Amino acid sequence: MDVESNSGYDLQGRPAWDPGRPGHGLIKALRREIRASGMPDAGRIRELATEHQTTAAKVRGVIGYYSDLAKDASNIKVCMGEACRSRGAAGVLTALGDDGNHADIIHCTGRCASGPIKIEKRSSSPPVARAGLPGGRSFFVSADTASVELGSERLAKRLVDAIGEDDSLVRTGSRGLFHLEPMVEVEAGGGRIAFGPVDEDEVESVFEAVDSGDLDGHDRFLGPVAELALIKSQTRLVMGRLGDCAPNDLSSMRQLGAYAGLAKARELGSEGILTAVEAAGLRGRGGAGFPAGFKWRAAAAESSTVKYVVANADEGDAGTFIDRMLIEGDPHALIEGMIIAAEAVGATYGHVYLRSEYPEARIILQRAIDDARAVGLFGSLFDMEINVGAGAYVCGEETALLESLEGRRGEVRARPPFPAQDGLFGKPTIVNNVLTLAMAAAILREGAEPVGLLGTEKSKGTVVAQIVGAVPQPVCVEVPFGGSAGRLLRDCSGLEGVSAIQVGGPLGSMFRVDELDDVELSFEGLAKAGGLLGHGGFVCYGDDFSPRAEVLHWMDFFAAESCGKCTPCRIGTQRARELLRRIGSGEERAGDRDLLGDLDEVMSGTSLCALGGLAMNPVRSTMQKWPEAFAANREKQP
Ligand SMILES: Cc1cc2nc3c(=O)[nH]c(=O)nc-3n(C[C@H](O)[C@H](O)[C@H](O)COP(=O)(O)O)c2cc1C
Ligand code: SF4
Repeated sequence: MDVESNSGYDLQGRPAWDPGRPGHGLIKALRREIRASGMPDAGRIRELATEHQTTAAKVRGVIGYYSDLAKDASNIKVCMGEACRSRGAAGVLTALGDDGNHADIIHCTGRCASGPIKIEKRSSSPPVARAGLPGGRSFFVSADTASVELGSERLAKRLVDAIGEDDSLVRTGSRGLFHLEPMVEVEAGGGRIAFGPVDEDEVESVFEAVDSGDLDGHDRFLGPVAELALIKSQTRLVMGRLGDCAPNDLSSMRQLGAYAGLAKARELGSEGILTAVEAAGLRGRGGAGFPAGFKWRAAAAESSTVKYVVANADEGDAGTFIDRMLIEGDPHALIEGMIIAAEAVGATYGHVYLRSEYPEARIILQRAIDDARAVGLFGSLFDMEINVGAGAYVCGEETALLESLEGRRGEVRARPPFPAQDGLFGKPTIVNNVLTLAMAAAILREGAEPVGLLGTEKSKGTVVAQIVGAVPQPVCVEVPFGGSAGRLLRDCSGLEGVSAIQVGGPLGSMFRVDELDDVELSFEGLAKAGGLLGHGGFVCYGDDFSPRAEVLHWMDFFAAESCGKCTPCRIGTQRARELLRRIGSGEERAGDRDLLGDLDEVMSGTSLCALGGLAMNPVRSTMQKWPEAFAANREKQP
């Protein structure tokens, strides 16, 4: 990095944006240390404390807080997120135990469309690809991690051996139609045609079909990509480039529109960007739906010369994965959004807080950052880096995230002050979800007016729906807000065999299938139905949906992930677990249900952040909608 030309650094090359707050860099150092030499002993902890200008007690506190820093971490990990649970993850765990293996439980790997997920050892080899020669044919296969789970890497390996020497094999992001993955696309007549799902043993026959021109004769032939019904029915503002080219092919990405929004933003200047984002009605996609323009204007109004843009790529809600898909398939969309946000508020530095469960995304994003910097897209006033999380769900909450970025336990901060005034290292900071930032780039590229005309009055633009679990067709689709949520799910995924749907992540609500037909797909529509849109996750459960088992699972999860800062959540989640274990079992006591109701009122009304505030949401909706599963004095255990 050219530190001289970056005003974020002083003459000694020390980052001006880091006032050296005690502990900064500690989590990174601990991760490295524990990986290389195991858990530090008391002497080493004291040394680490001195190196990081903090106390031994705080170092111990950090080690104990983050699951990635835990002792005895197993090499085998099984995802117990809702999408994987609905697809038999419990059976995977039991089978491992029966074979004498210990597995760590993780709560989402973002590969929800291809679960249940068991990770034994991460492969560090890059996806197989081949650059061809002019005149050769071009083949395209997704290297998105969910596609890889579905067999795309095996397919690519067979393909690269089979294609001619002049032919190229390009590894792309996924188009989000996971029921058709692994898919092979071929450049033909100025467009793309697709085959899918293609088994590796079908590679030869795909070639024969392409060579002979008898495409329709092949069972896996899908037709031109642009004509696929599920592509045609979408409005892909942020997903538009996914699947088109390699994520790190900057020049192709630019031909497809990457950084066109930034060029427009630089013409408009700060006020113009703010006006565009407000006119398009951009609301945060991380869960709360907070107006981005409001937050950005507040930060822009601050006089500090050092400000930050933080991209929240923690994506902890099981059943959601669009942030990962975007970073793996079109990382420049995020980088562009971050530079635009920085131009709008006058920020000098960007941090991406990326969850550790996404190692492939980190590699792709780092290369994209280096490429964008190398060709001068950052300008002379901005730079950015990736910070990897350490396995704490609550660190997706923006102030816990800032604490974690500063090297501490991810405990939620009381507000005010808000991050826009007093955020990272005490400087004005805007924290936005990956999708929000990518959406900002799309707004600048497409224009605020056409984007603002899409959707409903209060939810403008497009929504990315991730529909997974026990559905015939797991997909990720981008459509304008509005219309029936149930209709979308039926049209895109089919709901045969589905008995319950979780909307908006673990803090969201449960719906019976038919209920969603009358629910509008918008922030206000879900709110009116007693739920929340969250990050756009729809996890479908099949006939084996067990209401009691799920509420216990959620409350165990919240109790484990509570940051512990406020009493209603720290203690409330524990008491709720105890009550939920009794209610509906033979051990239920008189008054347990009233107590649970009181607890709901206290937690919802007085918790410091939405983890405690919404923790009873899924419990309440499940107990209301499946009362038979909680019938008093039920003997049956989950
Ligand atoms: C427990 C909890 C977890 C959260 N996890 C995430 C997350 O993984 N990603 C995210 O963008 N926002 C998450 N949020 C919301 C953030 O606090 C914040 O609202 C968001 O990053 C702001 O960005 P936006 O306005 O672009 O949505 C979480 C909130 C809570 C309470
Ligand atoms: S509600 Fe829970 S997670 Fe949020 S601040 Fe309180 S203890 Fe921490």
